Amino acid sequence: MTVHFIGAGPGAPDLLTLRGRDLIASCPVCLYAGSLVPEAVLAHCPPGAEIVNTASMSLEEIIAAIQAAHDQGKDIARLHSGDLSVWSAMGEQMRRLRAAGIPVSVTPGVPSFAAAAAALGTELTLPGLAQSVVLTRTPGRASSMPEGETLQNFAATGATLAIHLSIQNLNGVVQALMPAYGGDCPVAVVYRASWPDERIIRGTLTDIATRVDDGIARTALILVGPALAGEGFDESCLYAADYDRRYRPQSAESPWASWSHGDD
Ligand SMILES: C[S@@+](CC[C@H](N)C(=O)[O-])C[C@H]1O[C@@H](n2cnc3c(N)ncnc32)[C@H](O)[C@@H]1O
Repeated sequence: MTVHFIGAGPGAPDLLTLRGRDLIASCPVCLYAGSLVPEAVLAHCPPGAEIVNTASMSLEEIIAAIQAAHDQGKDIARLHSGDLSVWSAMGEQMRRLRAAGIPVSVTPGVPSFAAAAAALGTELTLPGLAQSVVLTRTPGRASSMPEGETLQNFAATGATLAIHLSIQNLNGVVQALMPAYGGDCPVAVVYRASWPDERIIRGTLTDIATRVDDGIARTALILVGPALAGEGFDESCLYAADYDRRYRPQSAESPWASWSHGDD
């Protein structure tokens, strides 16, 4: 049997990959992180599946439940919100499963930062404004931050910041970023991106804290950086009429002129 870690996406049940859906449908056991995984995704479980919400379970209890299914020869769908590559707690589960000799697979999901950017209708990397996105968080009760991974340090790059798990610390985020980005820097808070009750609050570092109300207490992303303005950026060369490139060579002398599209 195999434990299939599956990114369940940001909230909307149809933002699940086809691979993830099919794996869920093939597993007689499903463990899901109930605090953020939408229940509608569980509709893909086969009839009679054993479905376990792990929100209140310890790591030991989760591993024991997996081990029990493994001993019965059952495949397991293990669902976490968004994508598994960030803040999914997959790493600690996988370490124990590997030590126990239990096979695993990983299926990516739509991360919340991408769903938030889609809700805003914004590209986070705009030429001349930002060409990097930093996925980060501030320290919480369960996790401290490694030295050096401070908001001040990331702010010094001028990149677009996608700050997770930090809406309860919005004032601290503003304070940390103000010196580098300035009070006029655009900010967007996206609450429950892609859920039916999604909300978007736009502002600047100066006023965002007064715009966000108490209804936005968790499951929100704070996006900060000049790219959030969605204007004042350069155009990339990619579609420029005179830009010589593989798929649009500009002359017979172009290094791309003899390039076959099939080679790429
Ligand atoms: C434990 S992390 C999970 C991140 C997830 N693995 C991902 O790929 O986005 C939870 C945090 O992600 C962000 N988040 C998750 N889903 C979200 C959504 N639908 N809208 C806005 N932020 C979300 C929030 O900052 C929340 O505090």
